[in-house]
Amino acid sequence: MSLILVGDFMKKLVIGNWKMQKLSSEIHPYFHPFMNKSFHNVDLALAVPYLFLQSCQEAHNGTPFKIGAQDVSAHDNGAYTGEISAAQLASLKISFSLVGHSERRKNFHESSEIVAAKAKRLQNAGILPIVCVGETIEEKPHFQDVLKSQLEPVLSLDPKNLVIAYEPVWAIGTGMSASIDDIKRVHGFIKYFLKEHSYDFSSVRVLYGGSVSEKNASSLLQCDHVDGLLIGGASLDPVGFDKLIATLG
Ligand code: PGA
Repeated sequence: MSLILVGDFMKKLVIGNWKMQKLSSEIHPYFHPFMNKSFHNVDLALAVPYLFLQSCQEAHNGTPFKIGAQDVSAHDNGAYTGEISAAQLASLKISFSLVGHSERRKNFHESSEIVAAKAKRLQNAGILPIVCVGETIEEKPHFQDVLKSQLEPVLSLDPKNLVIAYEPVWAIGTGMSASIDDIKRVHGFIKYFLKEHSYDFSSVRVLYGGSVSEKNASSLLQCDHVDGLLIGGASLDPVGFDKLIATLG
């Protein structure tokens, strides 16, 4: 199992996030347009509901995707009804998982410490955590403080097996992506923050997410310090997602 999605860090990483969408019957048709395709400039991945991890792993054979989860328990194992542990994900050979998506931080009250604890569980199980961070619209004027508090617990994680996804909450699902200037500023800040704390971020990819579409994906991906994209809505229709990926060169 490859722990880092693909060894070549020069490649950008593009992850689709299905969130709580799709039914079992939609899984095979989804992968159909991607059969026997390869995209040379990007590593491709899909974060799918737990329930579909195994069927996606079977159905995606012959496509360029890696399959991952959208969350993991902060607990090791035991009496936690409804939770899924990192060891259970590893037993399915899952290679990555999102943690700390803003929908989880907001709706399930996950603190940055819990998010880091989840990421640590994943790393210990040999799974790549994609740690999501980002500010709300009210927090935008002081985004540095918000990101600092979200990133501080991340400093305890192994930098060799880590991805950070910057997703401004106000850009998620709104059709209003952050501007190139916003993204440059924030991604630059994230890398500066890690450097300032002597964190070896040379292998840490920083992705952008929030209203990425076929129209803006290519310019967002070319932005300074953007090492990939996390895509929700625009990853749901396979034909549209295939077209979006084609714009990335
Ligand atoms: P969006 O979602 O692309 O639909 O804005 C992104 C995300 O929540 O990961």
